[in-house]
Formats: sequence, structure tokens, C-alpha cells
Amino acid sequence: MVLRKEFFALVLFAEIVTLTGCAEPEAPKPYQWNLPENFPEPIVPTDNPMSEAKVRLGKKLFYDKQLSFNQAMSCGTCHIQSLGFAESKTVAVGSTGQSHRRNTQPLLNVAYNSNLTWAHSGLTQLEQQILLPMFGEEPIELGITGHEEEVLERFDRGDYPELFEGAFPGEPITFNNVVKALASFVRSMVSFNSDFDRYAYQGDDNALSESQIRGMNLFFSERFECFHCHGGFNFTQSSKHEQQQLDLKPFHNTGLYNEDGEGAYPDIDQGLIEISRRDKDMGRFRAPTLRNVTVTAPYMHDGSIETLADVIDFYAKGGRREGISSPLKNAFIKGIDMTDEERQDLLNFLESLTDETFNTDPQFAGFGTSH
Ligand code: HEC
Ligand code: HEC
Repeated sequence: MVLRKEFFALVLFAEIVTLTGCAEPEAPKPYQWNLPENFPEPIVPTDNPMSEAKVRLGKKLFYDKQLSFNQAMSCGTCHIQSLGFAESKTVAVGSTGQSHRRNTQPLLNVAYNSNLTWAHSGLTQLEQQILLPMFGEEPIELGITGHEEEVLERFDRGDYPELFEGAFPGEPITFNNVVKALASFVRSMVSFNSDFDRYAYQGDDNALSESQIRGMNLFFSERFECFHCHGGFNFTQSSKHEQQQLDLKPFHNTGLYNEDGEGAYPDIDQGLIEISRRDKDMGRFRAPTLRNVTVTAPYMHDGSIETLADVIDFYAKGGRREGISSPLKNAFIKGIDMTDEERQDLLNFLESLTDETFNTDPQFAGFGTSH
């Protein structure tokens, strides 16, 4: 077990070695991240440094339905805390009832993600990504486009002027600052308090059961291969932080679909190829974090796998139906011959990645009725 911990220390260390004094040039009052000792801080854009005041304002905005044009939903309607800030719908549904094509992503440790959303290599900053649910028209989520003035005026009332003044002293109330505050709140949502964290990083040998330890060993084994794509302390290759400069490629085709024998995904969503226009990116999606994964069902970019046990089955088979023989499938998805006990051990290990403290932390909770 001691060996195990050294291994995780090494994983972390390997990500840190590239560091040689790349501190941000000017940080005003340092924001206190709630991180385990010796963990690297996320990278924060220099034009939107973290502050308690911005996080406070961002939280209020996150849960405020006034942010949608018809006051029907807030960010928190789709991103539900008790479900790891994901939701149980197969795909998200916007404020006008229009369906999104994708499953709502969980929010935790998003500040560390090097790419945002399920399949976009160019969306690297939260300040860009948050514009999508706010102003996107296909599908409509919050639906602000065409209603900009009307929506913005709502934040000139109540305690908002004071909150904005605290967060952005001397500046007018603008969407730019709404977005900066929301981004700061989302960045503040860090989670390192799962049983796995207690075992791997806090020296608590009893935090994992025997079965979970066996499952962890399988997860990190060359036989199961999971760690290649769901590696690092955030269980996703799509990570960056201030002590790492590796450019990992986090997008993979896992063999969920193969419509034409050549690996095509359904027209409704073909993944990274839509952005990159490169044939080899057909069906490539971001390997998501597995933190909190037990509470974020259903799974995959389109919510097409209902339970975690079914996801493990999917990997055991090496894909789904025709997807198994897809020529575009990643070589690590090759099928795993596993016993029932191993299956259960892996499931139990994934359960150890749940952070109940985070999922109930009042610091991130809504306010009951939000207007
Ligand atoms: C209608 C439901 C819905 C609403 C409302 C919504 N989201 Fe999302 N959110 C989603 C879906 C679906 C995705 C995945 C999008 C994709 O891959 O194209 C997502 C992705 C994200 C991500 C990317 C996470 C990651 O790991 O890359 C962030 C951050 C996020 N949302 C924050 C917000 C914020 C902040 C708001 C409010 C301004 C908001 N969302 C409103 C459904 C919603
Ligand atoms: C080749 C890289 C790769 C390997 C190896 C891999 N995964 Fe994944 N995993 C992904 C990608 C990419 C997705 C998202 C696929 C999609 O939505 O189209 C995913 C999705 C998942 C999900 C669903 C998460 C969610 O929030 O929807 C779980 C659970 C999961 N993987 C667990 C595992 C386990 C357990 C293993 C080992 C048996 C494993 N993965 C091996 C790349 C990989």
C-alpha cells in the first residue's frame, strides 16, 4: 500500500517536473484555493484573477433564473449539485424546451481542464465557453440573444449593484463582467475530498476497502488500460495547471458507433471532426473526468449508456455493437476478459471517486428558490 502512495506521488510529480518559476506576474490579493497540500493551482487568465467578491457574485448569477430571457432556468437548473453538477436527463433541455444533443457535463475541477465541453479543441477558456449556454441559439439554452438589454437591466436591482461594485470596482454592469464572475465561481468548484483522495493523497490507508484497492490496481493496469485516457489526479487527460506544460491529446473514439463500417458516428454528433475537419477525428470525444462519476448517470456524450455497470460492460466488449469493429476506434479499447469479481472491484473503485462533501458543500449550494 505504501508503494501505491508513492506511485500517486510520482504521477503528480511527473506533471510538476516541467516547472521552473512560471508564477503569474501580478496577482493582487492572493485567492485562497482549497487544495490539498502540494497540489498545483489551476491556471487563471491574467485578465480575470480570482477574488472572493467575484466568486460570491458568480454564485448568485449561477443560480439566478433571471439570467435566462424567459426567467425559466439558470445554470443550476441543468448543473445540479447533488448530482455532481450534472443531471439525470439523457440530454440537456433548454429554457424553451428545445433539446441539446449532448448530456450535461459535471462541474468539478473544471479550472484544470485544458479543453472545455465534450469535443472542442479550441475552447480552452471558461470565459469563452460560458458564452455558449448564455447566447447560443442552436440549441437555445438561456436564450439571451435578442434580449440583451432586458436581461442586463435585471442586474441593476436588489443587491446586484453592490455585488458588482465589490467584484469590479468602478466598472459598469456588463455581460463581460457577468461572464467573468460566473467563470470565477466555476473555477472555485474544486473537489479533492473523495475516499480515493484520502487514500492516495492524505495517507489514510483505511479510506479504501480491499475490493476498491483491487479495482484501483485494475484501473491502473496495462490489462484494463483505463488510466491511459483517464489519468492524472483529475482522471482525464484533458488537464493543465500552473506546474505542467505537457500537451496531452484528450480526444478519442471509443467505438460507441460505426454507422457505415468505416467508423462514422450519427450525423447529429460526430465529435471533434466537426471542429477540426480532419477525417481521423470522426467520433473523437474528450475523455471526461471520472471524479463523482457514480452520481452523474447517464453516461457518454449523448447519455446513451444508462448505468456505470453498463459502461464497464461496454469496455469489456471493446465497444458497442458495430462500434466494436470500427477502424477508427482507439487501440486501447480492445475488449477485456474480466471476472465478475473484477467487474465489481472496478465499480467499487469508481465509487471511491465520489466527493460527498463537495456535492453537499453549502459554499456551492443554491439558495432554495432563486427568484
Ligand atoms: C440547458 C442545460 C444547461 C444550462 C442552462 C447550462 N449548461 Fe453548462 N453544459 C450543458 C451541456 C449539455 C454541456 C456540454 C456541452 C457540449 O459538450 O457541447 C455543458 C457544459 C458546461 C461546461 C463545460 C464543462 C467541461 O468540463 O468542459 C461548463 C463550464 C458549463 N457547462 C457551465 C455552465 C454555466 C456557467 C452555465 C450558466 C451560464 C451553464 N453551464 C448553463 C448544459 C447546460
Ligand atoms: C482510449 C481512451 C480511453 C480508455 C482506454 C478508456 N476510456 Fe473511458 N472514456 C473515454 C472517452 C473518450 C469517453 C467519452 C466517450 C464519448 O462520450 O463518446 C469515456 C467515457 C467513460 C465513462 C463515462 C463518463 C461520463 O461522465 O459519461 C466512464 C465511466 C469511463 N469512460 C470509464 C472507463 C474505464 C473504467 C476504463 C477502463 C476499463 C476506460 N474508461 C478506458 C476514453 C477512454
